[in-house]
Amino acid sequence: MSDALFSVEGRVAIVTGALGQLGAQFAHELLSRGAKVAVFARTLRKSSMETLYTPEERSGGNLSFHAVDITKKATIAKALNEVVEAWGVPHILVNNAGLDTQPSAPPEVSGPFEQFPEEIFREVVEVNLVGTFLVTQAVGALMAQEGRGSIINIGSIYGMLSPVQDIYAYKKEKTGIPFIKPVAYAAAKSGVYNFTRYCATYWAKNGVRVNTLTPSGVFRDTQDKEFQKNYCERMPIGRMARANEFNGAIVFLASDASVYMTGANLVMDGGWTAW
Ligand SMILES: NC(=O)c1ccc[n+]([C@@H]2O[C@H](COP(=O)([O-])OP(=O)(O)OC[C@H]3O[C@@H](n4cnc5c(N)ncnc54)[C@H](O)[C@@H]3O)[C@@H](O)[C@H]2O)c1
Repeated sequence: MSDALFSVEGRVAIVTGALGQLGAQFAHELLSRGAKVAVFARTLRKSSMETLYTPEERSGGNLSFHAVDITKKATIAKALNEVVEAWGVPHILVNNAGLDTQPSAPPEVSGPFEQFPEEIFREVVEVNLVGTFLVTQAVGALMAQEGRGSIINIGSIYGMLSPVQDIYAYKKEKTGIPFIKPVAYAAAKSGVYNFTRYCATYWAKNGVRVNTLTPSGVFRDTQDKEFQKNYCERMPIGRMARANEFNGAIVFLASDASVYMTGANLVMDGGWTAW
């Protein structure tokens, strides 16, 4: 049964960072529901494209790949032009590309706040905030001219609340070197929330909706077991998210099911921000 309320069929979507863990999930879900999906990826690695997307998806005519560094305006403009020429002005933009510091990061980029390097702070803000701004500026302008569109910015619980540093304390016990979850990601992601509200009100009368989706930590089998244990103990639902568990929110925000929602923050975090 087709569900008109949640339909994205025939719509054109851009998903940035869709050769990453969550972005690929969003792209699969939109594709499976009949949308056309343009993947904006910093590096078009053939192996990633072939591992992440099935031959049917790649040859079906509804999936395209574009080399885009979201911090570089020219690469965004070129890719957007390709999408518009092939499929028309996008209806959906998922600003998913992001940069975070993992517990495996070297000590020079995960040490105490007092020594946190300025260039890393700038780099993380550049991707998570400036990059989101540049893609939104280019795509949103076209959507506004068309009088429709849905932009979904991917936030993070660490942009709503400060990271719980105790979760990472095991690193010092294990290696003798402290891991301090850095300030850069938290500060950059928090900017996404008011960026979303700004764009939402700016384009509200042009039919372009702009919302944030806030995920919490997603399970990866490469994560330290100590990290997973500590994280899950802090998590009300008692486990990390599975990568596909945000797809329902993407479909909701992308489709007419959320037609009266703009400037909002949809939090899907297993209850993390509830206490
Ligand atoms: N995985 C989590 O636990 C988690 C939790 C909360 C929020 N998020 C957010 O979800 C989004 C996706 O995260 P993920 O876990 O899939 O990460 P990921 O690292 O698997 O994917 C992110 C993708 O963004 C791309 N990217 C980085 N800089 C770029 C640039 N300048 N131009 C173009 N692409 C660039 C990377 O190449 C990568 O493919 C991010 O915004 C992240 O901050 C993730």
